[in-house]
Amino acid sequence: MRRKLAAGNWKMNGLKASLTQIDALAKLCPTPDCDVLICPPATLLAAMAQECEGTAIKVGGQDCHVDPSGAHTGDIAATMLADAGATSVILGHSERRADHGEDNATVAAKAQTAWSAGLTAIICIGETLDDRDAGRTLDVVGGQLSGSVPDGATAENTVIAYEPVWAIGTGRTASTDQIAEVHDFIRAELEKRFEAKTGRRMRILYGGSVNPKNAVEIFETSNVDGGLVGGASLKATDFAQIINAAG
Ligand code: PGA
Repeated sequence: MRRKLAAGNWKMNGLKASLTQIDALAKLCPTPDCDVLICPPATLLAAMAQECEGTAIKVGGQDCHVDPSGAHTGDIAATMLADAGATSVILGHSERRADHGEDNATVAAKAQTAWSAGLTAIICIGETLDDRDAGRTLDVVGGQLSGSVPDGATAENTVIAYEPVWAIGTGRTASTDQIAEVHDFIRAELEKRFEAKTGRRMRILYGGSVNPKNAVEIFETSNVDGGLVGGASLKATDFAQIINAAG
């Protein structure tokens, strides 16, 4: 009942020449059995949205400002992302939480701004290695979930991405037992907080060193509704295999 989502997060990678990846990906996966999203750097968003016309691939932003517009040099408004052709925006990625001091309240406020612009908020949560080693994983994830996801979240306007910080860009994927434990916990929390029907329909992605080799196993894990993929989304041939694994 939940259609899987393969979302690529290009982070601070990609120049105009990288747009050829879209054509390659569309040829490799002309009719994917899952939703496909790529979140390029903001400089490529409008051009990529154009490249994606007539394909099943959608584009998204990697962050937006809390305010709808104003004097915020260097920042991007949610309405600008939508205007450039984005359908979604990643919010509260651990790299933004670490590099830009974003806390749960900020992420929740950004999610509301994103919704107002008609964007789906992909809200990222996940524990550090210290948290996990100290046995605090579910406490931390639960706190981030309740603090970063505003009231009013629905299966249409929100996607949760569980990304253990220690698994991001490290090649060290969480085990399927670890993933299942956290995803089952997130599902139960969502069902408790929102109407059970909403909680059951909201998608929960796993992120952290997903690659063509481990994608099938991860996507078969309990309550995993797709992936948020960094490094392996940069090459069409790799991302295509991940999309096929989700379909
Ligand atoms: P990774 O990044 O796939 O390169 O580990 C995932 C993410 O940070 O979204």
